Amino acid sequence: MIDLTCDLGFLKLRNPVIAASGTFGYGLEMEPFLDLETIGAYVLKGLYLKPKPGNPPPRLVETFGGLINSIGLQGIGTEAFVETILPHLRKYNTPLIINVCGESDEEYAAVIERLEKEEGIAAYELNISCPNVKQEGLCPALSAEATYTIVKLARKESHRPLITKLSPNVTDIVSIALAAQEAGSNAISLINTILAMAVNADTRKPLLANIFGGLSGPAIKPIALRMVFQVAQNVKIPVIGGGGIMTGRDAIEFLLVGARAVQIGTANLIDPQASCRITHEIEEYCLSHGVKKISELVGGLILDKD
Ligand SMILES: Cc1cc2nc3c(=O)[nH]c(=O)nc-3n(C[C@H](O)[C@H](O)[C@H](O)COP(=O)(O)O)c2cc1C
Repeated sequence: MIDLTCDLGFLKLRNPVIAASGTFGYGLEMEPFLDLETIGAYVLKGLYLKPKPGNPPPRLVETFGGLINSIGLQGIGTEAFVETILPHLRKYNTPLIINVCGESDEEYAAVIERLEKEEGIAAYELNISCPNVKQEGLCPALSAEATYTIVKLARKESHRPLITKLSPNVTDIVSIALAAQEAGSNAISLINTILAMAVNADTRKPLLANIFGGLSGPAIKPIALRMVFQVAQNVKIPVIGGGGIMTGRDAIEFLLVGARAVQIGTANLIDPQASCRITHEIEEYCLSHGVKKISELVGGLILDKD
């Protein structure tokens, strides 16, 4: 028997596999495909206070080893979520994590303030990659100062654990992670998608109506591993790693570079049972490598010293 449990300090998971925001709908859509009680936790599609229509189509394009999306954080808004979705999700024992969005610092605070009145939420994941209307569309994740401010405000509003989700579109990821930690974040998750674009050489037009989108999938895994490694070496709080995980072995690589848990994103769009399959593959890896506790692998990367 392998011990797959994962202790994030503020939250204990049955296994380290978490379904990533935006690729798992509001959870209910996944009910026909997998038993929600088998995954470690799930993060729902980003929630703003008000409903958002998202960007015009086309907003998804496949690229070599990946996917570029410009969904534009389409969503039903916090009130509709609380009234129509949340009551159905309460029947599950699996921790539910809400991905919180905002066009302003105040909106993040307002979403949390509303959700604080509700039972059945294990933690908030702050999506600090949302364009901020007051700062010419720049998102807080791009600056350590803006990250600190938003996390501090969320900390004040929330009695629940906060996970801050970092963007890879920065030069110095460690400074942003440290800012989130200093402001009171309980954990860091990374990486969100990488800013990208795709072009049709026949029409000479961009393939996305929004021109730019976020690249995800296997193509980004080496970058994600590098960033998770850098952050895990420098923060004291747990790191949740992800980006391009398609198999159990991919997940193991993230644990070895220091992630305590992993997030599965694009893989869910190809195989809605990916999170379950990856959990089994992690177990098989442990069996074949004589690993009794999954936590033994965290930060277990062997670095040859000169
Ligand atoms: C279609 C799509 C929608 C996404 N929506 C969100 C979102 O609402 N909030 C968020 O924080 N991340 C969102 N993401 C980012 C994923 O949660 C994940 O961090 C990223 O895709 C990298 O992991 P992956 O390569 O396993 O997909 C989205 C990704 C995709 C592909």
